[in-house]
Amino acid sequence: MSMRVVNPGEIPTKDLHQFIVGAIAPRPIAFVSTIDENGIPNIAPYSFFNAFSSNPPVLVFSSNRTVAGNNTKDTLHNVQLNQEVVVNVVNYEIVRQMTIASVSYPPEVSEFDKSGLTPVESDLVKPYRIKESPVHFECKVKEIITLGEHGGAGHLVICDVLRLHIDENVLDGERINPHKLDLVGRLGRANYVRASGDAIFSVYQSVMDLALGFDKLPKSIQESSFLTGNEIAQLAGQYVLPTTEEIQAVKESNSHIKDVLNNLETEPQKCVEELHKYAKQLLAKEEAKTAFDVLMLADEIG
Ligand SMILES: Cc1cc2nc3c(=O)[nH]c(=O)nc-3n(C[C@H](O)[C@H](O)[C@H](O)COP(=O)(O)O)c2cc1C
Repeated sequence: MSMRVVNPGEIPTKDLHQFIVGAIAPRPIAFVSTIDENGIPNIAPYSFFNAFSSNPPVLVFSSNRTVAGNNTKDTLHNVQLNQEVVVNVVNYEIVRQMTIASVSYPPEVSEFDKSGLTPVESDLVKPYRIKESPVHFECKVKEIITLGEHGGAGHLVICDVLRLHIDENVLDGERINPHKLDLVGRLGRANYVRASGDAIFSVYQSVMDLALGFDKLPKSIQESSFLTGNEIAQLAGQYVLPTTEEIQAVKESNSHIKDVLNNLETEPQKCVEELHKYAKQLLAKEEAKTAFDVLMLADEIG
């Protein structure tokens, strides 16, 4: 693998910016609503954004100086003025309206008018919520941290969440259903991802229960030329090694394995390879426990 080495400061900021937003992706999008001193509402998307604490609930987005003109943005002006924000999430249904709101209209223009989105009054802060967005966070700005003075420099806007509003239609009981929420994420350039349907997959791994890890697997599994790192991780993510009885059981009960073992005397190496290939098929079907038994059997006979 040949790696491109990039030293910030030695390439134009616009190129560095694209390396950063291309690699740190997909990013969630805060559709930030603020209000100015004349009561003019402002909405703009910010993908230098995330949640950083649940208790207290804290969201952070960064309003950057423009790379080309080194200008600050209306959102920053407004939060410096009155420290109030509503962060709205962006789903697929409003992605194009969100991009219209990202256009640099002058401060006296409301992006609600431009994007066709609907302002709804908030309960605890002056900025409006965006009706069409399925989740809104009413926030008080806790702190603004300036990261630099040149084009591309961020201003971290640290927001305490005062209240959430969640569309009942995206909820299954007390949990958000990602398929119903249908969020979009930002990649580099003009690219987005849609977080629903086939794009979503589940990986179950407890953070509290101590999984075996690669180092506790027999060398023959760690170094299998048939299994990828992801496949071996399905075994490393288990909590105990298969017992002798379990290995014996899979050997005796599984007809495919019996067939493979018929050639054990004449072609032992081939048998081991067949068992690794069979384990790979089982892993593809999420049958990690049986795959583990099969690979341990291969280790015994190898
Ligand atoms: C999806 C998306 C994400 C964006 N993320 C950021 C960001 O994280 N920081 C930023 O300064 N500008 C970001 N922008 C650009 C701003 O939305 C744009 O400069 C906007 O005009 C700022 O509006 P304002 O001046 O009303 O605050 C993003 C634009 C889009 C379309």
